[in-house]
This record gives sequence, structure tokens and C-alpha cells, in this order.
Amino acid sequence: MKNIRVGLLGIGTVGGGTFEVLRRNQDEIRRRAGSGIVITAVADLNVERARSIVGDDVQVVSDARQIIANPDIDVVIELIGGYGIARELVLEAIAAGKHVVTANKALLAVHGTEIFHAAAQKGVIVAYEAAVAGGIPIIKALREGLAANRIDWVAGIINGTTNFILSEMRDKGLSFAEVLTEAQRLGYAEADPTFDIEGVDAAHKITLMSAIAFGIPVQFDKAYVEGITQLHRPDIRYAEQLGYRIKLLGIAKRTAQGIELRVHPSLIPAKRLIASVEGAMNAVVVHGDAVGTTLHYGKGAGAEPTASAVIADLVDIARLQGADAVHQVPALAFQASSLTAASD
Ligand code: HSE
Repeated sequence: MKNIRVGLLGIGTVGGGTFEVLRRNQDEIRRRAGSGIVITAVADLNVERARSIVGDDVQVVSDARQIIANPDIDVVIELIGGYGIARELVLEAIAAGKHVVTANKALLAVHGTEIFHAAAQKGVIVAYEAAVAGGIPIIKALREGLAANRIDWVAGIINGTTNFILSEMRDKGLSFAEVLTEAQRLGYAEADPTFDIEGVDAAHKITLMSAIAFGIPVQFDKAYVEGITQLHRPDIRYAEQLGYRIKLLGIAKRTAQGIELRVHPSLIPAKRLIASVEGAMNAVVVHGDAVGTTLHYGKGAGAEPTASAVIADLVDIARLQGADAVHQVPALAFQASSLTAASD
């Protein structure tokens, strides 16, 4: 079967990781996908840096629209981030009939309804495994592995930056500001770290998970959001003395009044498994009526963990391209409609 040709918009940390993992594991990926997956073009404002990452065999341009207009590209990976130009480019790629893979949780949490409607109308996929909890395949777990269940609640440590800050404040007695600087240096924090420390990034992610878990529209504006900026070392110490850890949790829960969405610091008994999730690691706990409680743990950020999720979406798309028409249409429709279903 012919190769899947991919255009990459934005080759920073995750883009570089995606290029490297696709190259390194190309034989395994081809076997699982049923066809080769090849990045044939990259758009980045820093053409020199992009060229130094991808070499001479890949087209490098500064204008992302050149990739969208290229009829040879099957899939566009959006790794630009933010709501502005990323939204325009994703909508243009969909309009051009291209599948889209994105790690952009902010974009989907705020503009998901518009984007998924556009994709459904055009019959293309917008895949976003990398948008939530980095390398943990939690989107697939909710959509596929737990598809038999009535989900009661989803709760998780889904922002590595804040978990790293809380862990380091407790273990090393460092101040909030000192640890935030370190998190930025290590590349965990968002370009605007207020999204991390004010709980907004976690709220984007719990919004996306809740839409899949409960079949509700994407409704970031309905979430209660509180970050960790009001926490101080004595809070963490006192919690410790009482047998608790403080963690920033994202929670989506079915209640008699509807689905509750919230992000806030929570006291967790130290003996619970999730209390021992330290540093920039993420963990998501899901409770379903049939399966009971499941725990999903792994790296929530970083070049290759996030690339692992981006490439998993590319493999899904490659498989669907290879499926016969009978199987292809419902599969595409399911993916696109899962975030636009009517509210419970
Ligand atoms: N800033 C995010 C975090 C990166 O700290 O978890 C991954 O989404």
C-alpha cells in the first residue's frame, strides 16, 4: 500500500521527537499501520533549525499554507499550539480534505465543537491523543478500551508542571517560584506557564476527556478552575503531617444534576496509589460500571512520550485509509462525532 504522507506544522520539541521516533521505529510502525508513514514536508518559521532536524530529504517551508495546499499531503500534524493561527490552519486543512493530528488541548477544549463539526462534514479525522496526558493512551482507553462502560467518573493528575512543583516543594523545601523556573527549564511548562499553575491546562484536558467519557459537548467554560498559586510550603507540610499529599486534580463526575467538571488542589490520603505519582508524571483514574476502577500512568509531557501519542494517531489514520469503504465511514464518523454529541 502507498505511504501515508504527512505535513508537520511546527517542529519544536514534540515535532522533533515525532520525526525521530518515526524514523527510528519505521519498520514496527509500518507493520502495525499497514503502510509506511513519512513526514514529507515541514513548516516552521525557523527554517534553518527545521532543516537541521529533518535533513535534506524533507521539504522545509516557512509558510504552513504551502503544506495545506499540497495535494500530495494526506495528514497534517498541528504542533503550533494556541488558539489563533492554529485554529485557522486546522480549519483550512480540514477544508482541504486532510486528516489532522494535534496535541493542542487549548484549541480543542475551546473550539472543539466548531472543529469537529467541520471534520464530520468533510469526512476527515481530527485525532488528539497527544492533547491529553502526553504518552498515556487515555483517549483511546476512554473511547475504545472502556467503550462497554457507563463511566461514573474520571480523575487525574494531568498537568506535569504543577505536579513537579508540588513534589519539589515537598521533597526539597524549595519555593514555588524556584521550582517553576526549573519546570520551565526542563520544558514541562506551557509557553505561558500561567495556564499550568492556574489550572487552565488541566481544565482543557479534563474537558476533552469528559466529552468522550460522557458523550457531552466540549464545554471548557463550564469547568470550575483553581490552580496552585495560593499554596505555600506550610500547606504541603501540614498535609504531610496529617497523612495526605496535595495534588492538583482534574475531575469529571456524573451527578444527578449533570456532569461536574472541576480542577483544584485536593488532599489525597498518602496510601492511595495516585498520591505517589511524583514529578512531571501523570496518572488518570477512570471508574466504569463494568470494569471498576482503572489507573493509567505515564509521562505526561516531553518530546518522545508525546510523539508516541502523535504517531499512534497517525497509525490509526493509516489503518482507516487501508480499511474497505464499509468499515471506513462509521469509524470516521464515530471519531468526529464523539465530541459533538448532545448533552446528557
Ligand atoms: N504543560 C503541560 C504539563 C505539558 O505540564 O503537563 C503537557 O501537556
